[in-house]
Amino acid sequence: MKIPERIDLPKILDDRGNLTFVQQNKHIPFRIKRVYWIYDVPGGEFRGSHAFRTTEEFVAALSGSFDVVLHDGRKEYRFSLNRSYYGIYVPNKIWRKLENFSTNSLALILASTDYDDKDYIRDFSEFIKGAMG
Ligand code: TYD
Repeated sequence: MKIPERIDLPKILDDRGNLTFVQQNKHIPFRIKRVYWIYDVPGGEFRGSHAFRTTEEFVAALSGSFDVVLHDGRKEYRFSLNRSYYGIYVPNKIWRKLENFSTNSLALILASTDYDDKDYIRDFSEFIKGAMG
């Protein structure tokens, strides 16, 4: 079973500034089809609060900080992201919410599929029924 986990990426430390990179199927366990980012989040707002039927994601805080709150139908996972050299692998069929954004935070998301509204499960009770079934 695929489980949410923190993934540390390579970190090339340099007096000129640090560098981190990510390669599909090497550092993260899927092929990247899509990249998007979330920014200018007003204080107190949250993003997400849905699950995906098939999409797997990797979420990183390129700037600032926020929390990734996940639910697999049984238990909740909470990860605080505040460095740009690691992120969270979010398997499909996991309820996911991003919250507690700091000022000027930048969330980078790598996704395994093209955008498709039909891949979203937006109703938590439907999600729980599927997770238990
Ligand atoms: P959504 O994934 O619902 O945002 P969040 O879960 O962070 O609150 O996306 C918000 C809107 O953006 C929605 O109308 C669909 C659109 N969208 C795209 O067109 N392509 C994409 O790749 C993504 C992620 C969103």
